[in-house]
Order: sequence, then structure tokens, then C-alpha cells
Amino acid sequence: MRKVVCPGSFDPITFGHLDIIARASSIFDEVVVAVLVNRTKKSLFTVEERIAMIREVTTVYPNVVVDSWSGLLVDYCKQNDIPIIVKGLRAITDFDYELQMSQINLQLQGVETLFMSTAPAHSFLSSSIVKEVGSYGGDVSSYVPPLLLERLKTRLALNMNQQS
Ligand code: PNS
Repeated sequence: MRKVVCPGSFDPITFGHLDIIARASSIFDEVVVAVLVNRTKKSLFTVEERIAMIREVTTVYPNVVVDSWSGLLVDYCKQNDIPIIVKGLRAITDFDYELQMSQINLQLQGVETLFMSTAPAHSFLSSSIVKEVGSYGGDVSSYVPPLLLERLKTRLALNMNQQS
């Protein structure tokens, strides 16, 4: 049974994340999408909201499950018998940080990281850029699944009102 984890903040999940999850699900027996709680990052959506959104947009993949974790990713992997982390690499700018993370994860608990190259259509995409564009009223419909679009717009508007 080849079980892998796709970790991330997913605040919110984008077509870039979804592409990696879908491709991983076609290769491995089970893909766990793990929403990692990052105490230093201010998030737009709660962990519960992010989990619900990911579940909604991954229902078409029967071997994808969604979970959350607060702590080291490798501890989650050990606790859940997951030997492999799958991550998307967008560009060379991702590489230094991702390499460092993969090496520390290997050193800490022997957990391997496999990188999948992001589809060129999504190579510029990140949750942060989606939030930035959306917060100024830009069209983000090509970046996040249609099911999430209204929720994203509403939350960004609420955020802008609270800040002003
Ligand atoms: O979507 P993101 O924010 O780029 O994802 C980064 C994430 C959550 C995968 C990464 O920060 C992570 O693994 N955090 C958990 C803490 C951890 O294990 N850090 C690595 C060793 S210091």
C-alpha cells in the first residue's frame, strides 16, 4: 500500500494544489492532504474551513483523504505510517527552501520527499498571490475551483472591511 502525504497551508486550496493532488492520486494508493497549522502565519480561513473546502473539491478522487496537523510534518508521517511526502515544485525559487525541508525531514525521521513539477499553467500560482489579487477585486476564477469562489470573495471583502 503506497500511502503519501501532500502537506500545505491550503489557505485556500488553488488549482495548483489540486493538480498535484490529482496527479499524486493517480500514482499512489492513498493520498492524505494534510492541512498544517502554522502558528506564525495569519490565515484567511480556519483549519476547519480549509479542510471542508479541500474535501468538497477532492470528492472525485476516492483515494484522497483530508486531515490536519499541528506540529512537525514528520511526526504526522510517523504516527500515520506515511513514508513519503509529495510536494509540487513551481520554479527554481521554490527549490532552496524545499530542498532544505526535504533534507531536514529525511534526517529527522527518514521520511522521503518526492517533488512533482507543477503544470506550467500553474507555475505562478500560490494561495498568497490569489489572496492579493482577490483582495483588490481582481478576477481569481482561473485560480481556485468554482465551488470556492464566492467563499473566497466574501472572506476577502470581510477582511478588507475589518482592516479599514
Ligand atoms: O503551503 P505551505 O505554507 O507552503 O506549506 C508549508 C508546510 C506547511 C508544508 C511546511 O511549513 C511544514 O511542513 N510545516 C510543518 C512544520 C515542519 O515540519 N517543518 C519542517 C521542519 S522545520
